[in-house]
Amino acid sequence: MNITIVGVGYVGLVSGACFAEFGHNVICVDIDEHKINRLKDGIMPIYEPGLDHIVGQHSLSGRLTFTTDLARSVKGRDAVFIAVGTPPRPQDGHADLSFVYAAAKSIAESMDQFTVVVTKSTVPVGANREVARILGQYAPAGQQWAVASNPEFLREGAAISDFMEPDRVVIGCDNAQGIAIMERIYAPLAARNTPIMTTDIETAELIKYAANAFLAVKVSFINEVSDLCERVGGRVEEIAKGIGLDRRIGGSFLRTGPGWGGSCFPKDTRAMLMTAQDAGVPLSIVAAAVGANEQRKRDMADRIVEACGGSVNGKVIGVLGLTFKGQTDDMRESPSLDILKGLIAAGARVRAFDPSNPHEAAHLLPDVELVKTPEEAADGADALVVLTEWMVFKSYDLGELARVMRQRIMIDLRNLFDEATARESGFTTYHCLGQRSAVPKLAQVS
Ligand code: UGA
Repeated sequence: MNITIVGVGYVGLVSGACFAEFGHNVICVDIDEHKINRLKDGIMPIYEPGLDHIVGQHSLSGRLTFTTDLARSVKGRDAVFIAVGTPPRPQDGHADLSFVYAAAKSIAESMDQFTVVVTKSTVPVGANREVARILGQYAPAGQQWAVASNPEFLREGAAISDFMEPDRVVIGCDNAQGIAIMERIYAPLAARNTPIMTTDIETAELIKYAANAFLAVKVSFINEVSDLCERVGGRVEEIAKGIGLDRRIGGSFLRTGPGWGGSCFPKDTRAMLMTAQDAGVPLSIVAAAVGANEQRKRDMADRIVEACGGSVNGKVIGVLGLTFKGQTDDMRESPSLDILKGLIAAGARVRAFDPSNPHEAAHLLPDVELVKTPEEAADGADALVVLTEWMVFKSYDLGELARVMRQRIMIDLRNLFDEATARESGFTTYHCLGQRSAVPKLAQVS
């Protein structure tokens, strides 16, 4: 099939590369000339394991091309995917759909055959109907087209495997020819028994929000169970395992941590709450999860202060991990932002290391000293805080880090290590989440 992707951000680039891998001819178009030129040179605008390989391979095979010329790239296409950003509007938290609608208008003006215009961007219910209205207004007279909602469920850091081996594909479309094209696009997945669910447009739009909100609720739920363990006993990891083995619950998204963040859960839960508010429907469970998560991120700084004996004033806090989760360079709504600002407000000097060297860190955390190695973060520190579950941290020689610290306290907010490992490595005190503790709310060994 001939496919065009409008918007070469995270979703657009991963989708375009993977569609080329399926065997389709893909044009990726973006207004950012610098980004397109770099992609033509094989330079990725984002950090995503495996992406450079697929992009390189299909740039060579000729199945994947990059351009800034939108008008030409929507001619002769079976499907045009809109994958532009939908950032929250600063004034009210609603998703800003102006980029989606501008793309729809440009596509309409240049279409020259039956084309399915597919929204991949996360858009609130009703947005695809508006895309259809725009196409109707601006497409040449007699031009045939269909609209489809095809939400993505990619996780940063695992996006290629999420695209190539998804749990399901959701297609919201009420036009038979449009559905047939969409099914041909995803035929390589159907051949591998991936469920391809076709439904109406509004249902597809809401599946995306409901999925992210449910997962956010799940994480907030285990985080509250984690707090309960700290007071009454029990170990959160084993509880997560024990409930997760029940297939009705499932074991994923039950890892306790400092709170959920990223470019999706916070934005999508807020947008879903706005939709519900406008419709006069209370989504009290989602609202509670959002509130609990905000509070959790703020509380984490207090926990670190308590673990340091009640004050961090004048102390040096070494930090491992700044991004919102491991295996990504994304700092958006990372718990580290609230936590480290809280520590600095309490008088600490914060020295942080992140393996992805996130380029936004200096701007978002101007008072944090960013260092290039874990040893520099630990050097002379009064405590070492693990904020992100980077897999590479597990390979570090903790003994080396403990050796250069002033006080050997580890505060592990991802439960990445364990008491025995920390003790063997020379840490005198180890704090984690979700176990009964000597220090308030935290586990302690000495
Ligand atoms: C999320 C969804 O998982 C994807 O399916 C979806 O496509 C994507 O949003 C999106 O809407 O584009 P992502 O934001 O990359 O993906 O991150 P997740 O892996 O879902 O993690 C979200 C947050 O929850 C992170 O802060 C993570 O640390 C936290 N989390 C996740 C936990 O604290 N515990 C868990 O067990 C799982």
